[in-house]
Amino acid sequence: MCAKPDGSSLDLMSLAKSFSTILYIITMLLFALGFFIHLAFYAGAFLFVMLLIIDIRYKYFQKSHAILRNFGLFGAMRYLMESIGPELRQYWIASDVEEKPFSRRERSEVYRYAKNIESTAPFGTLENLQYGMIRHSMYPLHKEDMPQFSLTFGEERNIKNAYTITKPFMVSAMSFGSLGENAVRAIARGAKRGGIPMCTGEGGYPKYHLMEKPDIIFQMGTAKFGVRNGDGSLNDEKLSSLASEECIKMIEIKFSQGAKPGKGGLLPGAKVTPEIAEIRDVPVGKDVYSPPGHIECDNVENTVKFIKRVQEVSDLPVGIKMCIGNEHEFQDFVREMQKQDVFPDYIDIDGAEGGTGAAPRSFLDYVGIPLFHALKLVVNILHEEGVRDKVKLLGAGKLVNPARQITAFSFGVDAVYTARGFMLALGCVQALQCNQDTCPVGITTHDKHLQRGLEIEDKAQRVEHYIKNLDKALKELLAATGNKSLRELRNKNIMFRPWEYN
Ligand SMILES: Cc1cc2nc3c(=O)[nH]c(=O)nc-3n(C[C@H](O)[C@H](O)[C@H](O)COP(=O)(O)O)c2cc1C
Repeated sequence: MCAKPDGSSLDLMSLAKSFSTILYIITMLLFALGFFIHLAFYAGAFLFVMLLIIDIRYKYFQKSHAILRNFGLFGAMRYLMESIGPELRQYWIASDVEEKPFSRRERSEVYRYAKNIESTAPFGTLENLQYGMIRHSMYPLHKEDMPQFSLTFGEERNIKNAYTITKPFMVSAMSFGSLGENAVRAIARGAKRGGIPMCTGEGGYPKYHLMEKPDIIFQMGTAKFGVRNGDGSLNDEKLSSLASEECIKMIEIKFSQGAKPGKGGLLPGAKVTPEIAEIRDVPVGKDVYSPPGHIECDNVENTVKFIKRVQEVSDLPVGIKMCIGNEHEFQDFVREMQKQDVFPDYIDIDGAEGGTGAAPRSFLDYVGIPLFHALKLVVNILHEEGVRDKVKLLGAGKLVNPARQITAFSFGVDAVYTARGFMLALGCVQALQCNQDTCPVGITTHDKHLQRGLEIEDKAQRVEHYIKNLDKALKELLAATGNKSLRELRNKNIMFRPWEYN
């Protein structure tokens, strides 16, 4: 029985019985019509007999679904409705501002940049305006007068392979594995044309990235796919050889990511195809385990030593990526850097709101500190320890549009990363199937039929447009704050709740 709001109830059992009875009556009727009027009615009767067989099978010959056992075919409608629920809500029911993680309005802003179409809206805001608004200046600047952005990684160490970016955002890590080949190539081609680097994610040797030759940030996850020894430790020769590739501009050591901080992973042997095995540098068909942390980094001292080792072996700028869990641990980490006089060339703070291909719900929803709060802690610690000028600071976590990016800059980052911004630019419809290999727009899937929909050249153009239009919109917003450079932005550029001022 199903209670209705008025206290009465819907007798589902009677409804299911009536449903079965109607099936029987229609079947008999169709047989009668076939016998007396026309043979064609037998086709309909046959169809209904099939439905009756399914009804009987559900009720009497399966035990795993209680609803099907009790209500038969009528109960199957519940599963049907449940399976199409997300689509119904997305297309018909949800308003433009309520979908998660990105509302339709946030998504369509990215789609408009990517499709290179006008991004204005009529009549007025649909938001409930609250704290977090960007403060504009009485003396806004002209966007045409804004100087070119420039940020050089590795300059603090004065290294010969320092790397300069000229746009303030980059493509955040997404591994080949979580993305299919066409998606990787489309983003890589668009990033190259748009003039920004792309982080490989922890998927191993960047075979498909290298086909398109954008500037690449090679990410080394805890399993060190592509640069590992058999036990998952770092193989210096492999790293050194990879780092000598012309497109590889920086190395990123991933300690954790916002969507699942502290969580390792397992790639089942069945998914370790010869191609994946080659790219990840692991045996074909055997389970591959990604530990929760690097085996070299069992304490703070060894962690800092490991950063130094990667800097020396790669001879490139080396950044680290992490989600903050405990600021005291972070402070100890920074103190150890000071003690050893070893600093990563950048620290990328990934907020708990970050995305992933697949993670347990409890990690997605309950672990890690969200980006803006984490940035506040990190920036304070770097200043307190007197080392803010020793590292570049990056941030990621839903920074898909200029307003959120400006906010991150106001919290102290030097540049930002986005992953899902680029998925949306490719045409992601937020079907939330990244973990199922069924992505309907061919982004997070290896199914060749689904990937066929993602035409590399067309989507590369969208990525390029997204980069150019985002850059333009960011300059326009910055100009409104009266600041010439993103680095001038401070907390005071955001309207906080009174108790949040520091
Ligand atoms: C499909 C997908 C795959 C990802 N793969 C990786 C990865 O291999 N390594 C990593 O450090 N982060 C990975 N991330 C996290 C992103 O790099 C990024 O840190 C996070 O999603 C926050 O950025 P966003 O909110 O702009 O997506 C992945 C995210 C997505 C959506």
